[in-house]
Amino acid sequence: MTHHFNIRSVSMILVFSAGSLIATTNGGIYKNLKALPQDITEKQLDSCMNAYCRALKVDCGFCHPPKPNSLYGITLKQPQQTDFAADNPMKEDARKMIRMQMEVNRKFFYFDTLARPEFLNMVNCYTCHRGSPFPMSE
Ligand code: HEC
Ligand code: HEC
Repeated sequence: MTHHFNIRSVSMILVFSAGSLIATTNGGIYKNLKALPQDITEKQLDSCMNAYCRALKVDCGFCHPPKPNSLYGITLKQPQQTDFAADNPMKEDARKMIRMQMEVNRKFFYFDTLARPEFLNMVNCYTCHRGSPFPMSE
């Protein structure tokens, strides 16, 4: 009985401390980050997303398509809100690009040790994309 109780208390403490760690960074508003740092601030995330749009000359919907404007075949008046945390193949492709960018910067451009390597932008999306989502076909 006591053994069971102790394990429960320990996991409660872990849950609470993980919660407060997230609370000190972005308030835990992001649900599905697999490439960007978990402790990214709202300002940093916004700045990344805007940079992706500019570099590829696309809007948010290119990687975050809005949910269909119908529910059980009934067309809704208002478009349904985009779920930015939802996954799709384009977002998955973009994650690979984000990881590549981080790896290149960390490996070959990590001179400025004041900046965190995951936020170095020596090589960035625009370096290759130059305003196109498909740079190979330009
Ligand atoms: C080139 C693709 C791309 C574009 C364009 C883009 N995003 Fe994203 N977005 C991503 C990827 C990839 C992730 C997930 C990052 C990760 O896994 O760390 C993400 C994650 C997010 C999240 C976090 C969701 C969560 O809770 O996990 C938000 C919010 C978001 N994007 C908003 C936007 C907005 C607003 C725009 C337009 C200004 C935008 N994005 C444009 C690729 C894109
Ligand atoms: C080293 C060069 C390079 C960098 C840096 C780079 N990309 Fe790419 N990216 C490419 C190439 C090449 C393709 C394939 C394009 C094609 O098929 O024409 C591609 C494809 C993509 C695609 C898929 C488009 C599709 O459907 O084929 C997305 C989304 C994307 N990149 C997003 C990004 C984002 C976001 C960044 C910055 C985090 C980035 N890329 C950085 C070279 C790069």
